[in-house]
Amino acid sequence: MIKIFPTIDQLNEFAAGKFAEIADLSIKERGKFSVALSGGSTPKALHRLLAGDKFKSVIDWRNIFFFFGDERNVAPDDEESNFRMAKETLFEPLNITADKIFRWQTELRDAKAVVENYRLKLRNFFELTEENFPRFDLILLGMGDDGHTASLFPNTEALKESGKTAASNFVEKLSATRLTLTFPVINNARNVMFLVKGAEKAETLKNVMEGEFQPKKYPSQAVKLHDGELLWLIDETSAALLSR
Ligand code: 6PG
Repeated sequence: MIKIFPTIDQLNEFAAGKFAEIADLSIKERGKFSVALSGGSTPKALHRLLAGDKFKSVIDWRNIFFFFGDERNVAPDDEESNFRMAKETLFEPLNITADKIFRWQTELRDAKAVVENYRLKLRNFFELTEENFPRFDLILLGMGDDGHTASLFPNTEALKESGKTAASNFVEKLSATRLTLTFPVINNARNVMFLVKGAEKAETLKNVMEGEFQPKKYPSQAVKLHDGELLWLIDETSAALLSR
């Protein structure tokens, strides 16, 4: 489903409400809520809203377990770190304890070691066998102006990963190796919420939503849930080129 909002504040307000609703239902049904956070800049405002007076008290934060859809291969206190961003905007304001946070342990430095460590965290938390994939209650995603999501960038190796839950991914244009959940995990979620804003994304969003299916070029197109709810929350500026 696609919802278009006149302002980013209204988009975030809706997203926070949906987060609370899914958290409440997950905790009621399974005793816990597993969520994979997104990186970049868009989620910061959502995090602050969730940590604010309106939502802080209506969500049972004690039963929420935080993962990361992707991470940069930098130290956890690096300004590029998605974990650091979440720590500053969500975990510290809400006093989330470390036992509820499953970050990519980038202090291991070697990307393959970080990925193997994360796969183990996923396997243990979701009590996986060799065959199955984690089923997150919610995965938050953003979309880059090149159509990437998580750290699944156009024409990169990790797009092809179909057997593993997590992967390292060398991104030529960034000259950097990123760490990311794979499409089998994303597409196995109960809920996925994309948060997209900004005029700079309008062209790509039109291609992703209304153009030819080219998931190598526009990886966000490959997000298609097997059995779950996919929600695109977009603002007017990024939706400007969509046919209504
Ligand atoms: C990251 C994110 C990435 C992000 C997009 C969009 O690590 O950067 O996970 O996939 O969601 O780049 O970022 P913005 O929403 O900040 O534009």
